[in-house]
Amino acid sequence: MNTQDVYILAIESSCDDTSAAVLLNDQVLSNVVASQKIHEEYGGVVPELASRAHQQNIVPVVHQALSKANIDKKQLSAIAFTRGPGLMGSLLVGTSFAKSLSLALDIPLIEVNHMQAHILAHFIKEKDTPKPEFPFLALTISGGHTQIVKVSNYFEMEILGETLDDAVGEAFDKSAKILGLPYPGGPLVDKLAREGNPKAFPFPKPKVQDLNFSFSGLKTAVLYFVQKQTKFQSNFIEENLADICASIQYTIINILMDKLKKASNITGIKHIAIGGGVSANSGIRKALKDGEKKYRWKTYVPKFEYTTDNAAMIGIVGYYKYLDKDFTDQGVAAKARFSL
Ligand code: KG4
Ligand code: ZN
Repeated sequence: MNTQDVYILAIESSCDDTSAAVLLNDQVLSNVVASQKIHEEYGGVVPELASRAHQQNIVPVVHQALSKANIDKKQLSAIAFTRGPGLMGSLLVGTSFAKSLSLALDIPLIEVNHMQAHILAHFIKEKDTPKPEFPFLALTISGGHTQIVKVSNYFEMEILGETLDDAVGEAFDKSAKILGLPYPGGPLVDKLAREGNPKAFPFPKPKVQDLNFSFSGLKTAVLYFVQKQTKFQSNFIEENLADICASIQYTIINILMDKLKKASNITGIKHIAIGGGVSANSGIRKALKDGEKKYRWKTYVPKFEYTTDNAAMIGIVGYYKYLDKDFTDQGVAAKARFSL
């Protein structure tokens, strides 16, 4: 073992995924994620159930991460954990666990901001995946977040715009729910949209100032539209499902791309990195790729495993903070609202 080698155990429990990862420097040795299926039957994440499931999952998930990485906990250099933002009850489980383990092993504790982690996930060492160059714009889109961030350095980040209400993932999931699709509906809308006409049913785009977003109006527009159409034709949804999905997705992509173009024009930055679960969307990926030709952008999409909620992204932030000796003391508390 090189004396410079840093082993980080990372823990993520901000929403409904319990995850633990082990990193050797900027390389992932293991990344275990236990997704909570329980929420599917409720059509969304139930905070109390999420917290209880984290309590059940955390010990086996950490064990599995250590054994997959083939290291003993005595070899760890530090423990990194998600301090926030997220659901309080969920964050508390990971925070308390990380604090106790760091105390027991007598190694440093490192707090991580979940949003910073979604961005720095691009710096996990991967074959054939180039790392973005500073400065770049990060578009973080998931079930809980929608942000455009100017990233000047690892820890120099400025939020240029964010959602004023629902996140992009919620726009997908709530619209899907109106159409009778199971939770989470995002991937299904994506799949159905491929067979549909994106211009079949125009939905209004919100008028939001600056680089901010608003998505709550879209689900209402979808609801009213569907209610009106089914009055005339009871099987309207079944008959037009692919076209409705394609139209919803087209509207969402336009909203995102408009703001991204604006952000790129204002800052003069053409390097764009996306992250978060919604970055799996095939229409969004295509629109970004098109931007490479149309606007001379250089775009970065991390491996899917590192775009949805996972502990490896917490670990990479932990690694850079470890190099800076940026440690946290035992007095640290979870923070549900935690800005960049
Ligand atoms: O990052 P993530 O796993 O968890 C957080 O919300 O933080 O993101 C989950 C979100 C859900 O809203 C899900 O519907 C959406 O990502 N999603 C998609 C696709 N795959 C996942 N939305 C649209 N198209 C997809 N292919
Ligand atoms: Zn997230």
